[in-house]
Amino acid sequence: MIKLTRRSRVLVIHYSQSGQLDSVAHSLVKPLLSCNDIQVDFLNLRPQQDFPFPWPLLRFINAFPESAHQIPCDLQLDTSALADDYDLVILAYQVWFLAPSIPISSFLQTPTAASLLKGKPVVTVIACRNMWLQAQEKVKSHLTRCNASLVGNVVFVDGVSSAASFFSTPLWVLTGRKGPHWFGLVPAAGVKQSAIDGAARFGEKIGLTLHKQQAFDESLFRGMGAVRVNEKFIASEKIGARSFHVWGKLFLACGAPESLLRQFLALFYIVFLILMIVTVVPLTALIKTILKPFTKARVARQKSYYSWPSGE
Ligand SMILES: Cc1cc2nc3c(=O)[nH]c(=O)nc-3n(C[C@H](O)[C@H](O)[C@H](O)COP(=O)(O)O)c2cc1C
Repeated sequence: MIKLTRRSRVLVIHYSQSGQLDSVAHSLVKPLLSCNDIQVDFLNLRPQQDFPFPWPLLRFINAFPESAHQIPCDLQLDTSALADDYDLVILAYQVWFLAPSIPISSFLQTPTAASLLKGKPVVTVIACRNMWLQAQEKVKSHLTRCNASLVGNVVFVDGVSSAASFFSTPLWVLTGRKGPHWFGLVPAAGVKQSAIDGAARFGEKIGLTLHKQQAFDESLFRGMGAVRVNEKFIASEKIGARSFHVWGKLFLACGAPESLLRQFLALFYIVFLILMIVTVVPLTALIKTILKPFTKARVARQKSYYSWPSGE
């Protein structure tokens, strides 16, 4: 008697403004697309009213309260082409103001997410400037609420120094041009193409696991260098997320992002934000360096916590 086994199914949930995150997600699943016994479906999230790209400056700043508080936007969710049951869900997202981008946090709060993710192993794929720790904490909470289990996390960050991306990333999202800008003074923004191409190795590991009919667990990407936790950002991200939360309440009390009052507040907040970034981030990094000999064990614990489940 011939035993019929169904094709393995992988669902990729993604959203991208510039296309960067889409390229990362596609590169990652590329090895699976050529396997006849693996079906890969894509759910491209589309907000009813999409966010602008490039962003006008005040609209960009005014996205922080809704991002930090994860206020959902309406999505056009067409799931008619999707299967009922997936062996693995890949959630590819970018970070907005130390939180998952609004389309992603909105999706994670829908009944559709609850039913697609329930009981499923999930791999998160992040492509952002370089500050993703607090966003992933929020995503972890959503996954726990949806009874999904996080089995892997793969992170791609901009391929230039933190100081350079402080200029290159905002210039990119505000002009729509990656650069280089200003005669090469500000390098090109975004994840390096070689890193995007290298994402395929994670897809190969997923394919291997499916072909061996092994269950997905937290060992999936161990030892593959899927994430690197920059310890310098641990404290500054916590402070930043707290600040976005508190200031966000004030902004939200002033109405919708387009309201005049919020436009005015945003002007003031830009100055505050820049001052925060150029003081708090280096200051906490400096304090961390000074205290390094005394905090080694604690930092190691934090790095292991934030790099879970993939490990560094
Ligand atoms: C509104 C907004 C806020 C952002 N905030 C952060 C952030 O807090 N941390 C970070 O590492 N990157 C941040 N980025 C960069 C994005 O994570 C991402 O790298 C970039 O927007 C490209 O993503 P895309 O694939 O949607 O084009 C932000 C981008 C935008 C548009």
